[in-house]
Amino acid sequence: MTIKTLPLLLGDRSYNIVIGTNLLETIGERLQPLLPGKQIGVVSNETVAPLYLAKVLDSLHSSGFSTVEVILPDGESHKNWQSLTKIFDVLIENSFERSATILALGGGVVGDMSGYAAASLLRGVNFVQVPTTLLSQVDASVGGKTGINHPLGKNLIGAFYQPKMVVMDTVTLKTLSQRDFSSGLSEVIKYGIIWDADFFSYLEKNMAAVLQKDDATLTHLLYTCCAIKADVVAQDERETGTRALLNLGHTFGHAIETLAGYGNILHGEGVAIGMVMAAQLAQIRGLCDQQTVERIKQLLTQANLPVTAAKSFSPDDYIKAMGRDKKVAGGKIRVILNGSIGQAKIYSDIPHSQIKQAIVAHSA
Ligand code: NAD
Ligand code: GLY
Repeated sequence: MTIKTLPLLLGDRSYNIVIGTNLLETIGERLQPLLPGKQIGVVSNETVAPLYLAKVLDSLHSSGFSTVEVILPDGESHKNWQSLTKIFDVLIENSFERSATILALGGGVVGDMSGYAAASLLRGVNFVQVPTTLLSQVDASVGGKTGINHPLGKNLIGAFYQPKMVVMDTVTLKTLSQRDFSSGLSEVIKYGIIWDADFFSYLEKNMAAVLQKDDATLTHLLYTCCAIKADVVAQDERETGTRALLNLGHTFGHAIETLAGYGNILHGEGVAIGMVMAAQLAQIRGLCDQQTVERIKQLLTQANLPVTAAKSFSPDDYIKAMGRDKKVAGGKIRVILNGSIGQAKIYSDIPHSQIKQAIVAHSA
């Protein structure tokens, strides 16, 4: 089975993204030449650890690493200070040094928290990402955004902190629930909308094979998405421009996640509804036609994703939640809007009445 290696070029903080099948058992040998110290804190959660922790630990021990495990409770509602403190407590109790490494084994929740812990512990220890969900493989593990949620808003506390390596094994996706797999497809479809019209068409034609989780199809999918993300992050690591495009649908989506209560609507589900609302807003603003909105809606539906939000969230609640988004500048909500498929831009100064119109059009 092919193993693909993709570099993310950030000067002396560059790193490789390694994509393939049966890679978990090779992690130790891959990390050995890269890491200065022998201590590794493996952070996982109570769902992922029973599935994959033993394999990762065997590989690390065979390569001479000593390990300490931190197993967190599962779920978006635990992406908070308590979990972060647990990571710090265990690693400090075990006398972790600056040459040590935190390895995240899990989805985006474990990855974001572990990365923030790595950025802060002793003012920065090494970090490695081993993402095990589709969403974390195509998006969250790449590019160095780390952090936790605040009760008033998603990912409001965090740091940019790049890993030393990202290793993604398609095997892990076989145990992922269909709902979580679809949640990841939302970010996959996002790349087609903002960046690559041919990839969007590929997904329209091949969604059935993707949903079958065929290894070759998955490797192609992961490589395509990570190549786009690596390109975008290399151009704009700190999100001063282009990188903001990766937030298509997120301003609406984060509001939906927050309003629903963390964990009730999955991140990718919020983003899916958010991308439909953004496309509708783009149509209202004359940036795309209604057919484009329908194409986006259709592909998300093929991926088993929701495309309408609960009517119980009022447009005013959205505006309030969207006003706490990290992209807000000078008190103005900024949103990413698509043009034709494959193109998107960031916009501010959009009348709230138009934002509300797009929300209402996709709430039921
Ligand atoms: P998640 O980490 O909650 O994982 C989803 C579920 O799948 C969890 O229950 C988890 O325990 C389980 N799971 C993980 N791997 C599994 C496997 N191989 N088999 C079976 N079950 C498995 O959620 P997610 O969708 O991976 O990530 C969402 C998070 O990522 C959100 O907090 C979001 O804000 C964040 N995110 C971050 C970035 C970034 O750039 N840092 C980008 C996108 C999303
Ligand atoms: N997921 C958005 C970003 O990494 O910028």
